[in-house]
Amino acid sequence: MKTILYHYSATGNSLTFSRQLAQELGDTTLLPLASFRKGTKPEAERVGILFPIYAWGPPRTVDEFLQNLDLSDAKYVFAVASCGGTWGNTLRRIRKTLRRKGSDLNAGFAVASRGYLNLSKPGAKKSPQEKMVETVSKLSGPRPKTDQERLPEILEVLRSGKNAKPERGKLWGSLLGSFFHDMATPMLAKSDSGYSVTDACTGCRTCARVCPRENVTLAAGRPVWNHDCDSCGACQGWCPEAAILTAGNLSATRKHHPGVSLSDFLLR
Ligand SMILES: Cc1cc2nc3c(=O)[nH]c(=O)nc-3n(C[C@H](O)[C@H](O)[C@H](O)COP(=O)(O)O)c2cc1C
Ligand code: SF4
Ligand code: SF4
Repeated sequence: MKTILYHYSATGNSLTFSRQLAQELGDTTLLPLASFRKGTKPEAERVGILFPIYAWGPPRTVDEFLQNLDLSDAKYVFAVASCGGTWGNTLRRIRKTLRRKGSDLNAGFAVASRGYLNLSKPGAKKSPQEKMVETVSKLSGPRPKTDQERLPEILEVLRSGKNAKPERGKLWGSLLGSFFHDMATPMLAKSDSGYSVTDACTGCRTCARVCPRENVTLAAGRPVWNHDCDSCGACQGWCPEAAILTAGNLSATRKHHPGVSLSDFLLR
């Protein structure tokens, strides 16, 4: 069966898992989801969408992609959401979006992955946002199994073509997570307001080339952020000079999944 996998990834977890699925399923094309956010019609019987959870829901770019996606040729659609531990109601929300468009989500899986973009100051007092994250995590129930632990089980469902109800955490955690996601999404769009760049910047444009939303432009050889951000961290994480600071002058750890490199993330 011909398969197309769309991946959205900033630190490489979703991309690496997409590659593993592609290798196992065969006859699969891998495409960067962000390049198709304004619309596409995949010519494949099976379509997969792999992405990280941002604030208990899908990144805005993934929502936009789904709104503009024409699935009229697809017979089986699935999603894999990669998270640090809490995925809320994300997969059911995605099914709802697709159903509104007359399509469906045949299976939806949540997997836990290692986080690479640590922007908190060690030893710092917890912010109200961090406390909120802890509360939702506790109410959401146990962390899902890791992507590697779940790979055989996910492959079995995909190969059989069975429907598998999109997974959800515990009810209260999921509902609360969904509520916070709607509140957080507009804030994430403006989260680049506190970004700045140090003198280490060479004007290489890598930050602009990896941004899934084309939110970074260059003026006089320096990046400018245009407040249409996903807060994905790719610009900071992939800057070769580690020249980008976020609000509070925090710099990214610049770590990523060991199986990926910068060239995998250049969108333009
Ligand atoms: C802005 C932002 C928000 C996040 N929100 C959540 C969250 O609500 N729950 C969670 O478990 N992980 C959250 N994460 C962690 C990512 O979902 C996780 O690290 C994911 O594996 C990253 O995938 P990638 O490597 O494909 O980019 C968040 C990460 C970022 C950058
Ligand atoms: S990637 Fe880093 S060095 Fe290159 S233009 Fe952007 S901020 Fe400057
Ligand atoms: S500006 Fe940076 S953090 Fe925001 S969406 Fe683009 S790459 Fe991600």
